[in-house]
Order: sequence, then C-alpha cells, then structure tokens
Amino acid sequence: MKVIIDGKKLEADGHKTILETARESDIFIPSLCDHPQLLPFGGCRLCIVEIKGRKGLVPSCSTYPEEGMEVKTDSANLRRMRKQILGLILSEHPDACLICSEKENCDEYKSTIRRSIR
Ligand code: FES
Repeated sequence: MKVIIDGKKLEADGHKTILETARESDIFIPSLCDHPQLLPFGGCRLCIVEIKGRKGLVPSCSTYPEEGMEVKTDSANLRRMRKQILGLILSEHPDACLICSEKENCDEYKSTIRRSIR
C-alpha cells in the first residue's frame, strides 16, 4: 500500500507500524518505549504523529499505515506536545539522581524512585 510520510511517498506492507515504516526510510520519529523485541504498547507517547483527516495525535509505534494515509512527523504542535510529554515523564523519574552520590540518603529520590518502579 502507498502512504505518505512527511511528503515522501512510501510503500508500506501493512505489517509494520508507522514508526517502523518511517525508520526504514530514514525518517526520524522520537521514541522511548519502542523496542523491536517487544510488542508495541504506546506507553511513552513521544512517537506521536499527525494523520491527515484524523482528530488528535496517534502513537506511531502502535498504529499501522492504511492505504493513502498521510502522516506528518514534525510540526510546531508535535514538538510542543512532545516537550510537554517529556516534561511529565521526567517529573516522575529520577535522572540526575541516578549518578548523585547523595541518593541513598535523599528522601526525594526514595519517593521518586518508588513511584517510577510501580
Ligand atoms: S515509542 Fe513510546 S509510545 Fe511509541
């Protein structure tokens, strides 16, 4: 089937997601939770894309192309949404804490790491 991603006309086989189809054509879509040996579950939402004619944004790692589908992987709206999503993810997960020598005695670290491993 034919799909258009960022203006590029591509051939999609229907067994690969939009994310996989884009990657095969060197089109970058940010992702965190996608892994080739795991089933897609759309957890991080960083891979969101716009699909012409559809409301809202969809995760490209768990959405399959359809004939004639037009996908946009980059726009001001997508960048703004990804930034917000990443901010939310980081607000619940320690980042600098992982290398901090004070973490074993830090109440904030203990509280945050407990939330992130649930
Ligand atoms: S890569 Fe995480 S939701 Fe798609």
